[in-house]
Amino acid sequence: MPTLSQRIQDLHASPIREILAVISKPGMISFAGGLPAPESFPELDLRAVPRDMLQYGASEGETALREQICLDLRKTGLHCDPSQVLVLSGSQQGIDLVGKLMVDNGTLLALENPTYLAALQVFRFFGARFASLDRQQPEALLKQADKPALCYVIPTFQNPTGYCYSQQEREVLAAACERQGVVLFEDDPYRDLVYDSCDRQPVCSLMQSGQWIYQGSFSKTIAPGLRLGYLVASKELLPYLTRLKQAADLHSNRVSQYLILQALQHPQRMQRITALQASYRSKRDEFAAALQQHLSEYAQWDLPKGGLFFWLKLRQHADTGKLLQQAIAKGVAFMPGEPFFHTHQGHSYLRLNFSHADAAQMRKGMQILQTVNWHML
Ligand SMILES: Cc1ncc(COP(=O)(O)O)c(C=O)c1O
Repeated sequence: MPTLSQRIQDLHASPIREILAVISKPGMISFAGGLPAPESFPELDLRAVPRDMLQYGASEGETALREQICLDLRKTGLHCDPSQVLVLSGSQQGIDLVGKLMVDNGTLLALENPTYLAALQVFRFFGARFASLDRQQPEALLKQADKPALCYVIPTFQNPTGYCYSQQEREVLAAACERQGVVLFEDDPYRDLVYDSCDRQPVCSLMQSGQWIYQGSFSKTIAPGLRLGYLVASKELLPYLTRLKQAADLHSNRVSQYLILQALQHPQRMQRITALQASYRSKRDEFAAALQQHLSEYAQWDLPKGGLFFWLKLRQHADTGKLLQQAIAKGVAFMPGEPFFHTHQGHSYLRLNFSHADAAQMRKGMQILQTVNWHML
C-alpha cells in the first residue's frame, strides 16, 4: 500500500452513495436519496449550444449567468453584485471549497444536529470538530470561549428534518453571527420547492455587516445531472473561494451553464416552477396519507412545508440502520437517521424522500415498510 495522506484516514464512503448503488437494482423502490422526479426534468435543446461553450471559460462562471443569479437573488431580499457570484460544479462543491477555506485540523464548526450528511463528511475530512447550534439561542454557542469559526445552516426546508426557520429565528441567527464575528454559511438548495406559505428570506440578507456565504443549487428544480450550483459571498471571502475553485477544476461545465441560463430565462420559467410545486405538493400529501395509514403506529413526523423529505422518529427505540437491511431485502430503501448526526445518536430516526417514487411505487413501498420489524433493537 502506498503512503496515503493523513486526512484519508477519516474519509468514509458516503452512506447515501452506497444506498444509491443498491437502489439501481431493478424493482427496488427508493425513498432514500433526494432525487427529483424524472418527469420534472425540462426539455433541453442541445443543438442550440454555441460552439464556443466548448472552450475553456472563466473560473467565476459565465457573466450572463452570474448576472441572472443576482437578479433572482434580489427578489429573495439578498442584494449582491455579479462579481460576488461564483458558479459551482454543483453546490456540493461549495461545501468542499468552504471546508478548504475555513477548516484546519481541530477547527470548531457550529451546525444543526442533525444536518446534511455530505456536509458532515466534507467538514470531517478537513479535520473539523462540531458543536450543535440551538436555533432558539444560537448566540450562546457563538460567543463561547472555544468559538466556532463557521456556522453552517440550512434554514429553509432543512435536510433531513424539513424544518423551515421563522423570520424571528432568521433574524436572531443573523444578528448572532454578526455580533460574534462568526462566518455564516447558508446552504439553500430547496428554497423553490415550497408547498405551504412560510418565511424564506435568506439569513445572509439580514446581515448588515460581517462575513457570509450563501449557496444555491439548480439540481432540485432543473436537473442534478447538469451539476451546477452557485455561491455568493461577502466581498472579502470571494477572492479566496475563486482561487480554490481554480485549483479544484478551473471552471464549471460551460455547456451546463448555457443550458441553465436558457432555463432561467425561459418565458415559461415561472409556470414550470409553479407546476413543479403543485406536483410535489400533491406527492407530499399522498405520501403523508400513506404514512398515516401504514406507519403511524410506529413513528411520528411533521408535515414538511417544502423540500423533498419526511423525517420520522420511531415511537419506540430501534436501530433504523439494521431495519434498512430488512427493508432492502424486501425491496425498499430509505435513509437511516444516524449519519445525519455528529453525535452518534439518531438511530431511532429515518428520512424518507417523496419526490422520486411514482404513486404505485409509493403505495407498494409503504405496504412493504409496514411489514418491517419496527421494534428490532
Ligand atoms: C443541503 C444540501 N446541500 C447541498 C446539496 C448538494 O446539491 P448539488 O451538489 O446537487 O447542488 C444537497 C443535495 O442533496 C443538499 O441536500
